[in-house]
Amino acid sequence: MLSYRHAYHAGNHADVLKHVVWCEILRYLAQKDKPFYVQDTHAGAGLYDVSSEMMQKKQEYISGAVPLMRNAAGLQSSLLQNYVDIVRGFNPDTDDLQTYPGSPSIAQKFLRVQDRLLLTDLHGTELPQLKALFKGDKRVSTRQADGYEVMISALPPKEGRGAVLIDPSYEVKDEYQTLPNRLGKALTRFPNGVYAIWYPVLGRTRTESFIKQLSLIIKSKNTKNSMATLRAELNVSPDREEGFGMVGSGMFIINPPYTLKADLDLAMPELLTNIAPQTGRFIIEENK
Ligand SMILES: C[S@@+](CC[C@H](N)C(=O)[O-])C[C@H]1O[C@@H](n2cnc3c(N)ncnc32)[C@H](O)[C@@H]1O
Repeated sequence: MLSYRHAYHAGNHADVLKHVVWCEILRYLAQKDKPFYVQDTHAGAGLYDVSSEMMQKKQEYISGAVPLMRNAAGLQSSLLQNYVDIVRGFNPDTDDLQTYPGSPSIAQKFLRVQDRLLLTDLHGTELPQLKALFKGDKRVSTRQADGYEVMISALPPKEGRGAVLIDPSYEVKDEYQTLPNRLGKALTRFPNGVYAIWYPVLGRTRTESFIKQLSLIIKSKNTKNSMATLRAELNVSPDREEGFGMVGSGMFIINPPYTLKADLDLAMPELLTNIAPQTGRFIIEENK
């Protein structure tokens, strides 16, 4: 029985990195009038009440979203500024963080009337809230299902353009094999889609071997030499042996917006300064 509940971690440094990148991918897709399709394979609960018992238990948002919001006026990076504006939009009457948006609520903000969003979560715990949040929005569908299976069957989208967020909790070690395997199938069906994969950094050896696996799968599907990749990783503590918690996390993006690398070159140092100035470091790697 899997027990992961995202509310314990909502708004932490890993969410900030993921959602900064997610906002930019969506903003980029929405620049053209042509419809786009978005899929969030591991959707979670969609929106998080900061005063809830779960969010208050560890208060991880205090060293994640909060410093960026407090420092909003001083931010130079447009990526960080856009992210803060989105989070602020969920907290209209206060300077405090009272509600933190999950990836589904962030995506909904970017949808136009012609766009579609498909949300899946395997576990019944998150589904009622997810369904209630998006009830009445015809652009959004929610399903309790395995996100990987739905991803493979739903691709390619009729819109011909779109993005998939793959954000598992990595509770089971198999995830490190399952994800590249399922990604390979998705890439066969929809090679020109944007894929954003979140990964934790628990131990350097596992992380680098996972990145290698992803790269190998992509190489095997990249027969037309058209797929680029971008990796952005934010570590809040120095690497240590696996088994002592998460030291950081990363986003691995396939077919990223062509402006994303330059935007991240500005955003990552600023993210570090705001979130982990003493102990952190970041990685940006591009392959095209
Ligand atoms: C990290 S949370 C998602 C957070 C969310 N994407 C966000 O950024 O707001 C991961 C979620 O994946 C769900 N999950 C785990 N295995 C899954 C699977 N095979 N298919 C779909 N959802 C799954 C868990 O129930 C959990 O809610």
